[in-house]
Amino acid sequence: MISIIGSGRVGASIGFLCVANALDDVLLINRSRDKAIGESLDIANAIPASSKFSIHGTDDYAELSGSDIVVIAASTVSYTKSRTENKNPQVDMIKEIAKKIKQYCPSAIILMVSNPPDVLTYFFQKESGFSRFKVIGIASSLDSSRFRYFVSEKLSVPQSSINNALVLGEHGDSMVPIFSNVTVEGKSLSSMINDVEKKYITFDIRNYWKTLRNYKSRSQFGIAKNVYDVINTIINTRELFLTASVVLEGEYGENDVAMGVPVKINQNGVSEIHTIVLDESESSMLKESSKKIRDDINSV
Ligand SMILES: NC(=O)c1ccc[n+]([C@@H]2O[C@H](COP(=O)([O-])OP(=O)(O)OC[C@H]3O[C@@H](n4cnc5c(N)ncnc54)[C@H](OP(=O)(O)O)[C@@H]3O)[C@@H](O)[C@H]2O)c1
Repeated sequence: MISIIGSGRVGASIGFLCVANALDDVLLINRSRDKAIGESLDIANAIPASSKFSIHGTDDYAELSGSDIVVIAASTVSYTKSRTENKNPQVDMIKEIAKKIKQYCPSAIILMVSNPPDVLTYFFQKESGFSRFKVIGIASSLDSSRFRYFVSEKLSVPQSSINNALVLGEHGDSMVPIFSNVTVEGKSLSSMINDVEKKYITFDIRNYWKTLRNYKSRSQFGIAKNVYDVINTIINTRELFLTASVVLEGEYGENDVAMGVPVKINQNGVSEIHTIVLDESESSMLKESSKKIRDDINSV
């Protein structure tokens, strides 16, 4: 069973994708019960006639029992200036949710979507004591999708010709797009754009959410598809390479912090953390990014 805590825009969109693609039974849990029930009734009409699975909404955490995967997309309040501005109430909420998950489905794999995901991934893992490979923050893969989008727009090439457009570090203003690794139709991106163009692309990725908010409210579909891909990988015992936030124990020279790094996912969660070669400026930006997350963790 796939359980999704928080039936707002993002949680409901993830539920819709799981149900419409007949992945497994889906449970929506929400602070206000009516929203969970309403969204589940609406999404239930997207169950394919050939599907054996269903969807159900509740505010009762005891119904988490039997969950294989729990997605956390709950949010106490919305942020306006920075993803970390509500970190204290979000951390309090995550600690409470961690206790419930530990009680009702201690073997589940956790996909952390709520902001700030690096800080919350860290606190969930510490509070629950779950293996760090089973608590996965999903956000850097969304930033990587945005990186690929901007390179594609800049060079007027299809996204399918772009490889290894990865964003590491914080899901926030210090995130680090790794230009040195990207290839476009097999050629190095670094030979196609200059440093000023790289700075503009970096700025655009970091500020994508603000641009989005000028046109609609918050992001919804991109993150939902990124989370769905991870759930699909776990349920259907596949493998997926992406960037995701994991508590680090020495990888990239970091300890006791969670941040976006390249990982392989399989049915058990994170199966490998990949080490990729970074140039000097990327390494120093990643160091600054980990420091920013650590400062946020320490200030909670
Ligand atoms: N990782 C990423 O890349 C990424 C991308 C987009 C969004 N996000 C984050 O994802 C989260 C959800 O975004 P959204 O746009 O879906 O927000 P939203 O529409 O405001 O929905 C949040 C939902 O969480 C529920 N909730 C609050 N506290 C809860 C609790 N303790 N237990 C269960 N449910 C609870 C709220 O219930 P009520 O109905 O009672 O208010 C509400 O339905 C936010 O933190 C957002 O910043 C992350």
